[in-house]
Amino acid sequence: MREARAEDAPGIADWTRETFEWGDYVAGSIAEWIEDRSRHVLVAVDTEDIPKAMAVVRMLSPYEGWLSAARVRPDSQRQGLGSLLNDASVEWIRSRGGRVARLATEDVNTAARSQVEKLGYRKVSTWVYAEIEPGTAPQPFGPEKLKPAGRSDVDPAWIYWSTSELYETGRGLKPEQWTWRRGTVADLEQAARNQQLYTNPAGWVALERIDQELEVTWVATSPNDFPRLVAGIDTLGSEWGVSEISYHVPQTGWSGEALLRAGAEVSEILVYAKAV
Ligand SMILES: CC(C)(COP(=O)(O)OP(=O)(O)OC[C@H]1O[C@@H](n2cnc3c(N)ncnc32)[C@H](O)[C@@H]1OP(=O)(O)O)[C@@H](O)C(=O)NCCC(=O)NCCS
Repeated sequence: MREARAEDAPGIADWTRETFEWGDYVAGSIAEWIEDRSRHVLVAVDTEDIPKAMAVVRMLSPYEGWLSAARVRPDSQRQGLGSLLNDASVEWIRSRGGRVARLATEDVNTAARSQVEKLGYRKVSTWVYAEIEPGTAPQPFGPEKLKPAGRSDVDPAWIYWSTSELYETGRGLKPEQWTWRRGTVADLEQAARNQQLYTNPAGWVALERIDQELEVTWVATSPNDFPRLVAGIDTLGSEWGVSEISYHVPQTGWSGEALLRAGAEVSEILVYAKAV
């Protein structure tokens, strides 16, 4: 086992293109990750020093580590390599002063689930990942508008969220581009500063626009109000001309239901954690 080097990237890309039914993002990103000093890319190698398994680890905050992109070449799976790299990643987090290691897996990935459960991770929350085309959500009360929220919204939004069912179910975690870490009031302050915090009478949302996609990264609302918030996001997405709106919200039952009713395609993501 060793740290990945730039020359490993093409070889790794060869066996990380079609990992899942939908393909894989690793082949297109591995070279960049190896260069990125905030990420630690580990590989397990064969006798010729050629990588046959990989894992990526980074710190999301001074005490929270995040593991991602665990991949074992198909002919080398079930030989303990994935677990070896996971343990080494946890060691790396510990050496950086981290206190928790987290990772996410699709609900349907039974191999990854049983692997991490065997390694002592505990499932801490289930999230709905939803994709909606703007203009499809029902608007039962007429077009719902969202307006930018300012600094004065931060405290009420934070207090509302941190005592809500969404907070409880999501264990206070905040998603950001397929990573999860503890949400802080500073996140909301930054969202307000960057004009990414929006509100309507149904609650507050943090939105991030990345090219043609609008990503909903944080939601504070109640079960009854969530559909109105979804309707407001839909209206904004149409106004901005984005091609897709994506959500990561804790799975409360009502949250997934409302997104399905709004016409979303949904899947479930499990977040696991282990004390370091
Ligand atoms: C998931 C993955 C990283 C596991 O790595 P691995 O080296 O194959 O797994 P390990 O040998 O460390 O397995 C340890 C334990 O995990 C469980 N496990 C691993 N693969 C499994 C499978 N296909 N089915 C059921 N359980 C499995 C078993 O309990 C296994 O212990 P055992 O072999 O003694 O029964 C690897 O299979 C892989 O690359 N899969 C495709 C990519 C992927 O899904 N990555 C994870 C994304 S979150």
